[in-house]
Amino acid sequence: MDLTITFITSNKHKLKEAEGIFNIFGINLEHENPGYPELQGSLEEVASYGAKYVSDKLEKPIIVEDAGLFIKSLNGFPGVYSSYVQETLTNKGILKLLKDETDRYAEFRSCIGFCAPNLEPKTFLGSVKGLISLEEKGSNGFAYDPLFYVEKYNKTFGELTTNEKNNFSHRRNSLEKFAKWYSEEYK
Ligand code: IMP
Repeated sequence: MDLTITFITSNKHKLKEAEGIFNIFGINLEHENPGYPELQGSLEEVASYGAKYVSDKLEKPIIVEDAGLFIKSLNGFPGVYSSYVQETLTNKGILKLLKDETDRYAEFRSCIGFCAPNLEPKTFLGSVKGLISLEEKGSNGFAYDPLFYVEKYNKTFGELTTNEKNNFSHRRNSLEKFAKWYSEEYK
C-alpha cells in the first residue's frame, strides 16, 4: 500500500530529519507550511491542538511536531519555552546558567500530533537522553544540537550527520512510533 502523510512545519532541519526517517518505514512525506496557533501548554497539548486545527483546515491527514530540551538541574527549563529561549538566551546563555553545575543531564523530547478529518487527534512521544556539554561543538543540525552530548558516540548532536542523529534521536523515536501505528493500525 502506498502511504502518504503531510508534515506541517516551518523548520527545514526537522523536515530533512523526517524525510530520512519516513524513508526507512516506506511512507511518502509531503510538506506544507500553513502555520497554526501554538498554545501555551505541554508538548502534547500543543501538538494535539495544532494537528486538529491544521487537519480541519486542509481536510486531510497531517502531522505536526512540538519539541523541546529539558535540563534536569534547571527543573526542565527551557522545556516548552525552548524555541523562545534559543532565540533570546542562545546556547551561550544556557552554558552560563550551567557554569558551575556538575549535573549536566538533559533530555530532548518530541511529540508528534496526528489528526485526520472526523478523527480526534493522537500524539506520539519520543525522547533521548544526553548531557549538556561544557562548550558548543560541531556545526551540524540546528539550535541546541552543538550543546547536546551523547556518551555512546562521544560527540554532540552538532558533530553527528543527519543519518547518525536519525538513528536514535527524540524525533526518530516519536516518528517511528507514529510510522508503525500509521502503517499497521490506521484505517
Ligand atoms: P518547536 O517544536 O519548533 O516548538 O521546537 C522547540 C525548539 O526546541 C526548537 O526551536 C529548538 O530550539 C529546540 N529543538 C527541538 N528539537 C531540536 C533538535 O533536534 N535539535 C536542537 N534543538 C531542538
